[in-house]
Amino acid sequence: MPIVNRIAEFHAEMIAWRRHLHAHPELAYEEVETARFVAQKLKEFGVDEVHEGIARTGVVGVIRGQQPGPAIGLRADMDALPIQERSGKPWASKVPGKMHACGHDGHTAMLLGAARHLAETRAFAGTVYLIFQPAEEGFAGARAMLEEGLLERFPMERVFGLHNWPDLPPGRFAMRAGPAMAAADRFTITFEGAGCHGAMPHQGRDPVVAAAACVQALQILVARETDPLDQAVVSVTRIAAGDAYNVIPDRAELWGTVRTYRGTTRDAIERRLGEIVQGVAAAYRMTGGLAFERGYPATVNSPEEVSLSAAVAGSLVGAANVDADHPPCMGAEDFAFMLERRPGSYVWLGQGGGEEGRVCHSPTYDFNDEVLPLGASYWVRLVEHLLPRR
Ligand code: NI
Repeated sequence: MPIVNRIAEFHAEMIAWRRHLHAHPELAYEEVETARFVAQKLKEFGVDEVHEGIARTGVVGVIRGQQPGPAIGLRADMDALPIQERSGKPWASKVPGKMHACGHDGHTAMLLGAARHLAETRAFAGTVYLIFQPAEEGFAGARAMLEEGLLERFPMERVFGLHNWPDLPPGRFAMRAGPAMAAADRFTITFEGAGCHGAMPHQGRDPVVAAAACVQALQILVARETDPLDQAVVSVTRIAAGDAYNVIPDRAELWGTVRTYRGTTRDAIERRLGEIVQGVAAAYRMTGGLAFERGYPATVNSPEEVSLSAAVAGSLVGAANVDADHPPCMGAEDFAFMLERRPGSYVWLGQGGGEEGRVCHSPTYDFNDEVLPLGASYWVRLVEHLLPRR
């Protein structure tokens, strides 16, 4: 079963929506015009209910099928990134320093396309909640919607997400059961020593040396303490200390990121980070501090929903073009919060461009409009497959 014919018919309109959104990017929780555009389209399509202002700019559309039945949620993200676009496309961002560099414009357009078709046909038994979330890029819009009662106001049994994937060619889908994207946490380490003259180091206690030792010591967290068959990353991404050539500063600060899949690994690294900082501080005769800030949890797909989404994707592009056991990605994804609360599947939709460096978050990135009908058809077929009429 190829893409839905009716959706192919309005491909040109979906392209127009996508390029309009692309030209007018809005950052996290500022998606005011984007949300207005989404809500207006949903009303035009005749969906049963449109709820706005959830987590500031989130929108939920409700479509009831021809028969009663269970409910599922389909989620798209709407926010852009603080990047100066260099795609050179005619529809490039009109807003300096802001850009749809992760394809959320495409995700929004695809879910709108699905909404239009589902509202026209309603060939399913149950309810579909179309979730347009704000602030996926680091500001936890999904969590904010959950905190504002997303699942209580719109009780859904399962929830599904989709993201474009430049490393896969158009016409391919990929997903995996279990952890698919990593948990992303950040840390700040401080060493407080005693400043002194750079020529007389014995008169102080040098936090720069402690910081250097700490960076080295942290390497054991992954290399020696994490199961080689598990995955983790610990990266120190910033070291700051001192302002002069001849002054030993009294303080050094390190920033970094931790990526993990397993909760036990995440807990262990957080605990051991603290122990290493205290151990290094003691060895270098200073005080050490650690602030560990948990970000997005790992994105963990449930096996049954992954099988269902793979079958639906296979019905569109052929089973040979679906990789249901794709390797996980060390990036993080806000949809993880929804998957903590409901079973579901987050899939990757190939769109190409990766081999030329047009990857997500790059200033030359652009969503590939060719795949709009494919993503929208996936949503429609998923609904019809999961909520069959009797
Ligand atoms: Ni994204």
